[in-house]
Amino acid sequence: MNNRYAVILAAGKGTRMKSDLYKVLHQVCGKPMVQHIVDQLKGCQVDKAITVVGHGAEKVKEQLGADVSYVLQEEQLGTGHAVLQAEPMLGNQNGTTIVVCGDTPLLTSETMNSLIEEHESKNAKATILTALASDPTGYGRILRSHEDGTVKKIVEHKDASEEERLVKEINTGTYCFDNQALFQALKNVGNDNVQGEYYLPDVIEILQEQGKIIAAFQTPLFSETIGVNDRVALSQAEKVMKNRINERLMRDGVTLIDPDNTYVSSDAKVGRDTIIYPGTIIKGETIIGELCEVGPHSEIENSKIGNNTLIKQSVVHDSDVGDFVSIGPFSHLRPKTQLNDHVRVGNFVELKKTSMGEGSKASHLSYLGDAEIGNGVNVGCGSITVNYDGKNKYLTKIEDGAFIGCNSNLIAPVTIGKEAFIAAGSTITDDVPSESLAIARQRQTTKEGYTKKKNIGK
Ligand code: UD1
Ligand code: CA
Repeated sequence: MNNRYAVILAAGKGTRMKSDLYKVLHQVCGKPMVQHIVDQLKGCQVDKAITVVGHGAEKVKEQLGADVSYVLQEEQLGTGHAVLQAEPMLGNQNGTTIVVCGDTPLLTSETMNSLIEEHESKNAKATILTALASDPTGYGRILRSHEDGTVKKIVEHKDASEEERLVKEINTGTYCFDNQALFQALKNVGNDNVQGEYYLPDVIEILQEQGKIIAAFQTPLFSETIGVNDRVALSQAEKVMKNRINERLMRDGVTLIDPDNTYVSSDAKVGRDTIIYPGTIIKGETIIGELCEVGPHSEIENSKIGNNTLIKQSVVHDSDVGDFVSIGPFSHLRPKTQLNDHVRVGNFVELKKTSMGEGSKASHLSYLGDAEIGNGVNVGCGSITVNYDGKNKYLTKIEDGAFIGCNSNLIAPVTIGKEAFIAAGSTITDDVPSESLAIARQRQTTKEGYTKKKNIGK
């Protein structure tokens, strides 16, 4: 097989986004656009991938990490100039180079592979991925020979004549090149155009005039090639990606009651026969098991959920939840919460860095932070851990089978022993041994006849 290289263009500022965030870092379905490209390229057996960075270089590198190599384009003089920055790394290599823009997040590895195959089978020096757009405004147009239909050149929208603008076949910004031919041609690209930039697409005309074979691979999927230059296109990309993800989930056996109102990140996994209700947002690398019910109106981020678990109107972040767990309505699991199987967390319960053992319950109105709770514990309504003294956080331990009466304050650090009882309304400051009862509240005083006495003199 030919050597394969990839160049990803990600140095532009993205002026049209009107944003402090660099364009290629804007997210589509929870993942930065340029990360989508890099992830799809993983399916293309590329020997070396080079990302051209410039605006926000450090942030882009931080995002992509060691998955790719980098070259810096200090001044953004155009897409041709951008690719030329990779010459010291790639210029001498033999092989095929695929060039992709960091702002075309919907492109799939299948389409990239079809493009590479077309390029290699035609023995072309350059192959353009094209598409037919009903509204081609803003895209470069593919100009073909009237005689034999071969590609002559690409003209940018801004440089195109009225007649050229009628052409609906667009340059998607993705190409395959013979690596050596690419870098030789790039040296001849000038900047005599409306934008005063060195255009990568000009390489096509240069190679064509040298009599080299230029091919074009037209994908029927224009929606896959959207270039995101502004927030309107960003929302279109979001929609296309969302439909793609939701359709995959449904084909894999997940029920989505209202796909238009269900948002699942591209890296999340959901098991068969799980039902997702409207208004649910599943972010990051969340994994949800089989036979769960999630939503309506729930947000789950970077969490692992077992099988047969229910999550209603709740928020779950960076947490680990077992099987047959019931969460909500209106629960909030903050980071590092761990719920074992058959746990129940109910109305208005907030947990943070807390583990609950099998079958334990906190059904109503509790805050449990920095706590280790054993199996079969019942945390009564309104009970809380007092984990913070204004400076430090302390641990509360509640051992197996303990019963925490309603409205108790457990002042950490404190341990409640196995099967101990805490009387309702207690404020517990000292450890409670196993199997004992702790009552920490004032005895009741009752003053009989009080109402009548109060009314004396009326
Ligand atoms: C480009 C193409 C156009 C095509 C369209 C498809 C050119 C001149 N035009 O136009 O034919 O139809 O994409 O979406 O190539 N970049 C750099 N350095 C630069 C300039 C740009 O790295 O100096 C990067 C940008 O970050 C971006 C990509 O290259 O990811 C494309 O640049 P952009 O300005 O968006 O090009 P378009 O005007 O969309
Ligand atoms: Ca673009």
